[in-house]
Amino acid sequence: MKALTVNAFKPYAEHKVEEQPSQPMKPGHVRIDVKAAGLNFPDILMVEGKYQIRPPFPFTPGSECAGIVTELADDVPHLKVGDRVAAMVMNGAFASEVLAPMMVTWPIGDMPFETAAGMALVYGTSYYGLKQRGQLQDGETLLVLGAAGGVGLAAVELGKAMGAKVIAAASTAEKLAVCSEHGADELINYTSEDLKARLKELGGCDVIYDPVGDKFAEPAMRTLKWYGRYLVIGFAAGEIPKIPLNLALLKSIDIRGVFWGTWTMKSPKEHQANMGEILGMYKSGKIKPRISNTYPLEEFARACDELTQRRAMGKVILTMG
Ligand SMILES: NC(=O)c1ccc[n+]([C@@H]2O[C@H](COP(=O)([O-])OP(=O)(O)OC[C@H]3O[C@@H](n4cnc5c(N)ncnc54)[C@H](OP(=O)(O)O)[C@@H]3O)[C@@H](O)[C@H]2O)c1
Repeated sequence: MKALTVNAFKPYAEHKVEEQPSQPMKPGHVRIDVKAAGLNFPDILMVEGKYQIRPPFPFTPGSECAGIVTELADDVPHLKVGDRVAAMVMNGAFASEVLAPMMVTWPIGDMPFETAAGMALVYGTSYYGLKQRGQLQDGETLLVLGAAGGVGLAAVELGKAMGAKVIAAASTAEKLAVCSEHGADELINYTSEDLKARLKELGGCDVIYDPVGDKFAEPAMRTLKWYGRYLVIGFAAGEIPKIPLNLALLKSIDIRGVFWGTWTMKSPKEHQANMGEILGMYKSGKIKPRISNTYPLEEFARACDELTQRRAMGKVILTMG
């Protein structure tokens, strides 16, 4: 099989696809002929040694994929050879074949592989963030920063589906147009507009979903209402903001961390329930995953460029050919 192979931490453009032997079948596992895999920001951090998890070498990155079941362990009751499935794995999705635990493999029906490969992480993170951590309520106002990115656009759609008024903030008019297509009620271009002033004009917000960090965190937090919730999702802009704690005191604000990957392992039943609800929203048309672009696995570096150069609008997908 072919697999993107990380032999040392180095810039993402230097990693190559190599031939690797197939892994032997293990109890409770499913072998998948991978058709597509979702690229996520943490994958880039991981291959460069900048992520909180640093796997031993050699490793193949990638945490989500979709494809066709080619082999099963004897103890896998709910799947059969030929099923179309998606899977979430710790690592190894950027390959033509994956051995996935059955617990994290689910049937996808007739959903396109590219869509299925890019749904779990962004919708899973954003739903856990808004539902379990943010406790977003019908009628509340949600601000999403970096709203056209992978997790951002998912948060816009889920916020709408949960009954919130959604304010999308992003860096270009083109990105904001995409947010509007996906349901955002109000749009703020934080490159050309004063984020705090516009948010105050709009009446402030109850929940902030922040995957960007850096210079927007504090002005946005200053517009939270009484009992507001600020969700710490990530730091795509690079800098981890330092927040004056008096802001939390003045309006009884909660600053809530969101680490979806660890939560899925600590609370597998709640996670599965969330994924079931997300699938239900997809089937009823409440969420419409957007693919920004697809690239062959061999063009991993170009796919990463789309994220690091802030061009992605929705999901970037790798295909195995
Ligand atoms: N907490 C969790 O469990 C969890 C799970 C998944 C992802 N994350 C984190 O969430 C963040 C976003 O992930 P993603 O996959 O949605 O990434 P993405 O698609 O690249 O979106 C990130 C957004 O951040 C904004 N941004 C601002 N400065 C940037 C810069 N210098 N480089 C890149 N983007 C910049 C961009 O929007 P504008 O151009 O509009 O500013 C971009 O759309 C990452 O930090 C990731 O690690 C966290």
